[in-house]
Amino acid sequence: YYIGVDLGTSAVKLVLMQGDGTIKNVISKSYELYFPHPGWSEQKPEDWWKATIEGLKELTAEYDKTQISGISFGGQMHGLVILDDKDEVIRPAILWNDGRTQKQTDYLNEVIGKDKLSEYTANIAFAGFTAPKILWLKENEPENFAKICKLMLPKDYIAYKLSGIFSTDYSDASGMLLLDVKNKCWSKEMLDVCGVTEDVLPKLYESYDATGTLKPEMAAELGFPETCKIVAGAGDNAAAAVGTGTVGDGKCNVSLGTSGTVFVSSERFCVDQKNALHSFAHADGCYHLMGCILSAASCNKWWVENIIGSKDYDAVLGGISELGDNPVTFLPYLMGERSPHNNPKARGMFIGMSMDTTQTQMSQAVLEGVAFAIRDSFEVAKSQGIEIERTKLCGGGAKSRIWRKIVANVLGIKVDILKTEEGPGLGAAMLAAVACGEYASVKEAADKIVEVVETIEPEREIVEKYNKQYSKFVQIYPTVKDLY
Ligand code: XUL
Repeated sequence: YYIGVDLGTSAVKLVLMQGDGTIKNVISKSYELYFPHPGWSEQKPEDWWKATIEGLKELTAEYDKTQISGISFGGQMHGLVILDDKDEVIRPAILWNDGRTQKQTDYLNEVIGKDKLSEYTANIAFAGFTAPKILWLKENEPENFAKICKLMLPKDYIAYKLSGIFSTDYSDASGMLLLDVKNKCWSKEMLDVCGVTEDVLPKLYESYDATGTLKPEMAAELGFPETCKIVAGAGDNAAAAVGTGTVGDGKCNVSLGTSGTVFVSSERFCVDQKNALHSFAHADGCYHLMGCILSAASCNKWWVENIIGSKDYDAVLGGISELGDNPVTFLPYLMGERSPHNNPKARGMFIGMSMDTTQTQMSQAVLEGVAFAIRDSFEVAKSQGIEIERTKLCGGGAKSRIWRKIVANVLGIKVDILKTEEGPGLGAAMLAAVACGEYASVKEAADKIVEVVETIEPEREIVEKYNKQYSKFVQIYPTVKDLY
């Protein structure tokens, strides 16, 4: 067996996979997400650890634990996790959707300069990236900054606790703005800019490399063999791409998780000339371009649970039927926006209501607004000459039949639905299987394991209506942005 640990923002999701790719069990354990100030977003690494250990025990309780050969990870990207000289967590992790670093992001983009950043790392600064957070810490919590002995990403903390090995992988490291993505090494220039040295950073691996094995005491606690390999893993989007078979050239995956992403795989290193999309390493040893919106399924959760006050998603969304005629439009920027606007101060908005507007129309607008915001990144990819005629879909939002249809028609492409929407967890388990020699490459694992069970075809009439609505959607943000 192989285990994939998807350390998400709402929960850790664990997948137990048999060598042939059959999913035997899936467990999800949620934890708290803290918003200590408007626009800030933090979690406690200790909560991730507790949930992961409980999850690993529950996941394997009914299975032969001695047969677990490898564990790998897909993790929420960009989070700043810092440990002191006793390996204690210094402060809560500052997450990928945290918007506190506007000043530091502006400094990086304007004073260091976008051209230089792009030359050093292949990317410009976005508020959620790790480097601006390091600068924020240095400026605002110098006593914590001074204590840093190890600086890592969320999933690397779990791997470190399990194995004692301080490591990361190229795909996740790409999102730190400290990695020279093209040459796959730490950028000396960026380390200098941030005032950190290489010895506080993890050792770099390919996602499918084994970094070590379980610590004997962890093996004993979990009942797993001491030979169980710990495999570097990937950022959750690269892991999801593996789990959805988005490897090779020009393949696309859309994820509707807490964040929403468009991920385009590429065999060659490539940079978006406008720097609106991220240029990162992929988990298959190659590269990808990615656009990320900060609130996707989380908009739906906010709307259904916090505003309507229901937990019954089917009841709230069940009434949506006519697509393309909704007079209401929603901007999904509840946590600010990353791609392509790069504005942590952006906020959500409904527009177009009248006295006869219904709750169902507003619910529909939320799903459509997320799809339109995803289309923004999709359009940037297309403007780079990338042709995309179909996409995979994963993440919690992919469970919704109506949302699948909205995505297919807003993007105007075929949407392939897979056997499981657990993209990152499955992808992580596949990376473990590759590291243990079960498959010769990530590509081979994807070809043999990933199965499309349904394809949603866009419908011409709806696509045309959505094209019109999208041309209005793109005018809203520039009109209101000075009001935030
Ligand atoms: C990607 C990003 C998000 C998180 C979500 O750049 O910030 O997709 O990885 O976990």
